[in-house]
Amino acid sequence: MRHRIFSYGGASAKLTFFGKEGAALSNVFSRRRGRGEARLVMEKVSRYADENDLVLRLIIMRYGYSDEKAMNNVQLEEFYSKFGFERHDNTLPIFMIRYPTSQKIHAP
Ligand SMILES: CC(C)(COP(=O)(O)OP(=O)(O)OC[C@H]1O[C@@H](n2cnc3c(N)ncnc32)[C@H](O)[C@@H]1OP(=O)(O)O)[C@@H](O)C(=O)NCCC(=O)NCCS
Repeated sequence: MRHRIFSYGGASAKLTFFGKEGAALSNVFSRRRGRGEARLVMEKVSRYADENDLVLRLIIMRYGYSDEKAMNNVQLEEFYSKFGFERHDNTLPIFMIRYPTSQKIHAP
C-alpha cells in the first residue's frame, strides 16, 4: 500500500492511501509534546488532503508512552476536530472522517 509521511520537528503522521480519493491517517505522534509540532503536522496533512481532494479517515486510539502531556482519547477527538474531522457515529472506538474543502457541501 502507498504511504506518505508528514513531519515537523519531532512530530509526524502517516497517510495510507486506498483507492483514488481516500486515505487513512495513523501514527500521529509527537516526541516533544505541547510545542505545537503535532498541530503543524496536522495543518500539513489537512492542506494536502484539500489540495488532492482526499477524504481522510482515522480511529482514535491513544498509544505509546504516556506522560502528563500526552492527550487522552477525549482530548484527541477535540484535537482532530480542529482540523475538520467529524465523529462518524457513536460506536467505540471513535471513528472520524474529514472531507476535503471541495466536498464539504456533500458531507452528511
Ligand atoms: C497527540 C499528540 C501527537 C499531540 O502532540 P503535541 O505535540 O503535544 O501537540 P501540540 O503541541 O501540537 O498541540 C496541539 C493542540 O492540542 C492542545 N493540547 C496539547 N496537549 C494537550 C493535552 N494534554 N490536553 C489538551 N490539549 C492539549 C494544544 O494546546 C494545541 O492546541 P492549539 O493548537 O489550540 O493551541 C501527542 O500527545 C502524542 O504523541 N501522543 C501519543 C501518540 C498518540 O496517542 N497519538 C494519537 C493516536 S489516535
